[in-house]
Amino acid sequence: MLARLFSGSVGKKFAMALTGLALYVFLAGHLAGNLLLFKGDGGAQFNAYSEYLLRHPLLVPVELGLIAVFLAHVWLAISVSLDNRRARPQGYQVERVSGGRNWASATMLYSGLFTFLFLVIHLRNFKYADRAGGTLYELVIRSFQTPLYAGGYVLAMILLGFHLWHSFQSAFQTLGIDLSRRLRSLSIAVCLVLAGGFGVIPLWIYLSTVR
Ligand code: HEM
Repeated sequence: MLARLFSGSVGKKFAMALTGLALYVFLAGHLAGNLLLFKGDGGAQFNAYSEYLLRHPLLVPVELGLIAVFLAHVWLAISVSLDNRRARPQGYQVERVSGGRNWASATMLYSGLFTFLFLVIHLRNFKYADRAGGTLYELVIRSFQTPLYAGGYVLAMILLGFHLWHSFQSAFQTLGIDLSRRLRSLSIAVCLVLAGGFGVIPLWIYLSTVR
């Protein structure tokens, strides 16, 4: 019954909106935790927070849920894009004429797939890194002292920002919650806080620790 509900194109878009909004909740929590990097206490609170999460009994179920939501979101995005392409063989030119679209919305699939690639590199470097040589805080600081790494992160956050900017308003429209102009301003604010917040971290670490 549930599978049938989400297999039509409207159902798929609905599920894509719900899974996308759930990922915003994760991003907000992750950013809040990462802001402990700014504490100026040599990483004491950041490391303590990470240790606390690692020992938490809900960590594994939450991580499994997060992986399921993320993979469902990616699968739905690819599937909806393919459906749209099949229904509209001449590409997005028609949509441009109908208005309300910009290049951020037209490149959603690509900015989304780029975020997926970013995530693979990110998890490899932080979550699954060999931490025997030091604390997690030291690993983050060391990583962002490399100009290529810090610059790559800032660039990735700009692309993620475009994805977040368009997807936020799009998700609410799909769910039938039309806040019109207020929604547009809200999605810009959410995108600036999340992508800007994540993007400032490598920039700040690089500029404040490298001479
Ligand atoms: C400057 C920006 C960021 C920093 C400094 C950062 C830092 C970290 C660190 C240190 C970890 C490992 C945490 C631990 O093992 O205790 C981590 C995990 C993770 N990060 Fe990030 N992150 C950033 C941006 C992002 C973004 C933009 C995303 C999503 C698009 C993301 C998604 C994740 C995920 C999914 C995990 C694994 C969470 C878990 O399984 O517990 N991160 N991040």
